[in-house]
Amino acid sequence: MTTTNLEQQFAEAMKSIARRHDLKSYVEKTPAIYRLLQRAAAKYVAGEKREEGLEAGQRLMEKGYAVSLEYIGENTADVQACEAAALELSRLIQSLEERKLPARVSFDLSHIGLSIDSKLAYKQLVTLASQAQQAGIELFISMEESGKTDSILQIYEKAAAVHGNIGITLQAQLNRTPQDLIGLQSIPGRVRIVKGAYQEPEQLSIPRSSALNERYLLLVEQAVRQGHRVSIATHDEAVIKEIMLREWLHEPGVEFEMLYGIRPDLSSQLKQAGYPVRIYLTYGHEWYLYLCHRIAEYPPNLFQAILDITGSGEIDSAKDYE
Ligand code: FDA
Repeated sequence: MTTTNLEQQFAEAMKSIARRHDLKSYVEKTPAIYRLLQRAAAKYVAGEKREEGLEAGQRLMEKGYAVSLEYIGENTADVQACEAAALELSRLIQSLEERKLPARVSFDLSHIGLSIDSKLAYKQLVTLASQAQQAGIELFISMEESGKTDSILQIYEKAAAVHGNIGITLQAQLNRTPQDLIGLQSIPGRVRIVKGAYQEPEQLSIPRSSALNERYLLLVEQAVRQGHRVSIATHDEAVIKEIMLREWLHEPGVEFEMLYGIRPDLSSQLKQAGYPVRIYLTYGHEWYLYLCHRIAEYPPNLFQAILDITGSGEIDSAKDYE
């Protein structure tokens, strides 16, 4: 077996672990294991409380980064929990307004109702969008598994027709995405291009490869040409180098966006070279799946997790940004 195959197998195994409810529930019900893994998650998640997310965000903004804040969670299966998640997002918008912090607010639609009823997700989305619009804050919808792509895009299109402050994430790994992007031509909202974090069937997607990088670059170019403001959300240096050669990087509204705790050195270099860089910060107690995905994407993060778990010092990724 080649190293690439082995890495792919590892990534697939980690993504399956991310989806295992029995393992997640074991972690949540076992305080000692929870505390240990929480230390590993702290590399990528600012904390469990809103205050911790805001504090890390403020520090990054003081260093010259733009910030997105996500209250983590997805696939929430009861109405009360969906309403509680929407309430937390509403309080986050309020806190940002009170502190005059111009951060973007990101979330999964399945955290606020999509797993139950798309009407519930839509209703909660437009309520949040009205509040955010009055506060001058932008909302951003994440993209989830391919089984939800149609409903997420439908809800986005309907809400974005009324509220101009909502953006959408598209996954380059899905074969449908170039066509989906064409479908968004008449909607002026910001578009975030990511490679895609979910394990998808072979017939619907392409794996990490030079073909995926090529498609990623074409999608960014297509989005810029369609007149969208674009977030280039990747840590892939090969892709970033290619993008730096293209003139449209200097178009207004085009930015790099990277996940908190991942390649802070690269974010710092890009910022110091004068490029607009946004850091995507997460907070909340639903960090299990998020942590598994970060390890799946880059197997050496497993060793980092072990070091963080067994160490005793404070884990503070914000200090790694220059
Ligand atoms: P890729 O995974 O190909 O990695 C290329 C290189 O980047 C690696 O070799 C390594 O050097 C570095 N790298 C990548 N991940 C790393 C890690 N975890 N730790 C250390 N180094 C790493 N996905 C999704 O499905 N829906 C969504 O809504 C979002 N939202 C989102 C927002 C933002 C701002 C970002 C940056 C990413 C997402 N993602 C996402 C995740 C995205 O789909 C993807 O899984 C990760 O960004 C990793 O892919 P890369 O483009 O970095 O490249």
